[in-house]
Amino acid sequence: PDSLRALAAPVGLRIGTAVNTDLLASNPAYTKILNSQFSSVTPENVMKWESVEPTQGTYNWAPADALVASAKANGQLVRGHTLVWHNQLPQWLTQEASSLSADQLRAILKKHITDEVTHFKGKIWQWDVVNEAFNDDGTLRNSIWLQKLGSGYIADAFRWAHAADPKAKLFYNDYNIEFTGPKSNAVYALVSQLKAQGVPIDGVGFQTHLDTQYGLPDLENNLQRFAKLGLNVAETEVDMRTTLPVTSLEQNAQVAGYTTTLQACLAVKQCISYTVWGFGDAYSWVPGVFAGEGAADIYDENLQPKPEYTTLQQTL
Ligand code: XIL
Repeated sequence: PDSLRALAAPVGLRIGTAVNTDLLASNPAYTKILNSQFSSVTPENVMKWESVEPTQGTYNWAPADALVASAKANGQLVRGHTLVWHNQLPQWLTQEASSLSADQLRAILKKHITDEVTHFKGKIWQWDVVNEAFNDDGTLRNSIWLQKLGSGYIADAFRWAHAADPKAKLFYNDYNIEFTGPKSNAVYALVSQLKAQGVPIDGVGFQTHLDTQYGLPDLENNLQRFAKLGLNVAETEVDMRTTLPVTSLEQNAQVAGYTTTLQACLAVKQCISYTVWGFGDAYSWVPGVFAGEGAADIYDENLQPKPEYTTLQQTL
């Protein structure tokens, strides 16, 4: 049967995955699946600020450059991830942030965005410009960015990114916004306002880190209302975790989750990519973060395809 990327190509959809660049360099079985199944890649960590600028003023582009080169060689587009976030910031920045003035911090953020987007200019399809700026109740997250710069940092970030690479598609990306509710409504209000103000935003990324304990209420309608604003949408970090060991009931729910999330993207014309957050249970971020949970990916611990893979193939 055909690969995910081959099946998705005729409908103009890119099937992506987060990539662990250590495995890309060292694990041929991993790399073979990566390049045969996926037409888009997202660096799982190596474009984050702590990775690209571990010491102030000293850039470490090599791991991300290697992924970008590999993507080009394999006909894959790149989702850049991520420019402004509250996590995985370099220590030099978190340590000095409280003693900086607003102007100093704004200058540091502008330089970071400008330098990183310029470095990868012309090589990035979609940039996650701002990641996870909201709390689940729909208020803005109390990050160093909000504290020092106020909510205007979001529009500024998009403007700076656009100035550095006018052709890249610029995204706002978040989790727990797949379904309507306070957080999704808050993001909707934000991006509506950005569009109305002429801020260069092109899309919204729905991370889609789901758990079999949640239902799957209204993803398609929710994607559709954002699309109606004239934005692209994308599912950017899909995985479907559950408690271990996995029962057959739970696995059915996982398969249903992958099916429904892909169907929603296929049903919305402006949904341009469906990206899983890694493709092998042995390498997933889930067990390290959600105690007692795992098995969230479409390949098992031995890189064998699971029913979660088969349903994606059959749904395409
Ligand atoms: C995670 C990575 O998968 C881990 O390897 C890392 O230790 C922490 O970050 N939302 C995001 C991603 O936007 O960047 C996160 O990735 C998962 C949650």
